[in-house]
Amino acid sequence: MKLSRADFPQGFQFGAATAAYQIEGHRFGGAGPCHWDSFAATPGNVIRAEDGALACDHYHRMEADLDLLRDAGMDAYRFSTSWARVLPEGRGTPNAEGLDFYDRLVDGCLERGLKPYQTIYHWELPSALSDLGGWTNPDVADWLADFAEVICGRIGDRVHSIATINEPWCVAWLSHFIGHHAPGLRDIRAAARAMHHVNKAHGRTMTRLRDMGHDTCGIVLNFEATAPASDAAADIRAAATQDAINNRWFIEAIAKGSYPAEALEGLEPHLPRGWQDDMAEISQPIDFLGVNYYTRNHVQAVEGVPWPSSTVVDGPRDKTQMGWEIFPEGLHGTLTRMSRDYVGDLPIFVTENGMAWPEEPDHADGVRIDFIERHLQAMHAAIADGTNLQGFFYWSLLDNYEWAFGYEKRFGLVHVDFDTLERTPKASYHALADAIARKDGA
Ligand code: FCB
Repeated sequence: MKLSRADFPQGFQFGAATAAYQIEGHRFGGAGPCHWDSFAATPGNVIRAEDGALACDHYHRMEADLDLLRDAGMDAYRFSTSWARVLPEGRGTPNAEGLDFYDRLVDGCLERGLKPYQTIYHWELPSALSDLGGWTNPDVADWLADFAEVICGRIGDRVHSIATINEPWCVAWLSHFIGHHAPGLRDIRAAARAMHHVNKAHGRTMTRLRDMGHDTCGIVLNFEATAPASDAAADIRAAATQDAINNRWFIEAIAKGSYPAEALEGLEPHLPRGWQDDMAEISQPIDFLGVNYYTRNHVQAVEGVPWPSSTVVDGPRDKTQMGWEIFPEGLHGTLTRMSRDYVGDLPIFVTENGMAWPEEPDHADGVRIDFIERHLQAMHAAIADGTNLQGFFYWSLLDNYEWAFGYEKRFGLVHVDFDTLERTPKASYHALADAIARKDGA
């Protein structure tokens, strides 16, 4: 890679990201059942019905995995804390083994000079809470805040940063309207409620974290560059609606205390009564914004189907193993849009960006190296254009459990053999380590 650490501002953080259910091995250490276990156990939801029971066995290999981050010269590690591991019933008595695990994880980061960036919720909702309606139940706001109090009460004195929720769009829309993620609902009323409750849970958790004295708190949102499939008026309108649902709903609630009209058009009839009363707590200040960015969507209007009356069609550029179009300009556009329209000079982190690619002989990985380099260039350009971007976390450190796609899609800098669980750094790991270490600029 031509770019190196020297091209980025002093103090810019280089790291990698993971999430608990995708790597830990959920069957170990007294974790309770979560909605991903039962979703995966239902035919047709996940490729080969794979689940996170073993995953990368990070639960037992955590020290060696932290060594991989340190040996790449990384500054920071973004991980998540599993709700069902800490509170197997979702509420009530904590699992001492689970708390001990995160305690060791945080100490393990600090011993290696890695700043711990915690995400409180990255999707493993305890089954006991999904039995009560999960994200469709307004009480989820207090449930999440209570969980935050337990886990941050234990590790909050040592973590560098705390994000409340990873990707509310996936928690709400992908899981309750598209039905692709647990709990797999396809219901506009459930989706609208989840779309609001996830914001409410963020706000309630922020309040609790502030009460506990934390001052480096924020949220991680996902964004997709969104383009109309053609210049027909119907496609332009459909793309604007998708942009409102995917890219504006959450940040507008947090930064401005309102929801975009294009999304309210379809969702308002299904929102919980009195939702307006929650907007003040939702829009309290945050200390940073996490941006996850992967691809661009081309949106086409579809006549004769209910709102939002559209579908996503293939774009012209090269695709990753996920079929996601590679479009680095969209990262630049997202970052500059965030600072211009929503958060001003607030610190922004790219908390996820990466790509899936099949195994290659000798883990050559040239496509991924090129992908990282082009997205680093996009970040570099956004900084030059005035965005207060303070760090980049590659998704992901390891090949892992890619949700409904099981173990097939490989996002890692480090290859995992899912028979032996052996880790082998790919060429992209070495290329990024080299870029992080080099003091000469491009
Ligand atoms: C994001 C998720 C992460 C991973 C990547 C590929 O939406 O946050 O867990 O699945 O996509």
